[in-house]
Amino acid sequence: MSMFNDIERVLVSEEEIRQRIATLAEQMNQIYSDDDPPILVCILKGAFMFLADLTRQLSFRHEVDFMEISSYGMGTTSSGVVRILLDLASSIEGRQVVIVEDIVDTGHTLSYILRNFATRKPASVRVATLLNKPSRREIDVPVDFVGFEIPNEFVMGYGLDFGEQYRNVPYIGVLKPEIYQGVDQS
Ligand code: IMP
Repeated sequence: MSMFNDIERVLVSEEEIRQRIATLAEQMNQIYSDDDPPILVCILKGAFMFLADLTRQLSFRHEVDFMEISSYGMGTTSSGVVRILLDLASSIEGRQVVIVEDIVDTGHTLSYILRNFATRKPASVRVATLLNKPSRREIDVPVDFVGFEIPNEFVMGYGLDFGEQYRNVPYIGVLKPEIYQGVDQS
């Protein structure tokens, strides 16, 4: 059976994502310039699609780099325990940095990244996240560019997974409850 049968509904459509990314890119195009090219740090794996679409809308010179942070495994909620699975290839010392995230939920992942990056002495750090779930926040974290504020629901698609699946779904969707029933959510 198709994985699309597992999806209850579309929360953010492809067209809405496309338009919103164009707006976020315009905001960034006002801030950054070729005089001081920033490094966009894509937080793997969930932000790969957002980065790919965002980077093509930016008119200033920039580099991309990747960092992978451990997340929930098969569950759907954060344990608050975070560790680096893949570190940056480049130094960010003295550089302007834009962290590109898929979603800020409890804030633990982003808080960890921001504290870790501060020790590397970048010139500036801003955060772009496609999705924001403010109702779930456990730690206050600054977010500079937000695609969509969403309610407290577990979402998938457009890079975001459930149990490593559904990342290729081209929109943000909500799964049918029976799909995650029986899965440990701790
Ligand atoms: P936080 O540390 O709780 O803010 O969670 C951040 C990470 O958890 C994100 O980068 C996602 O990988 C994952 N995550 C949080 N909420 C969701 C969701 O609704 N669907 C898929 N992944 C999520």
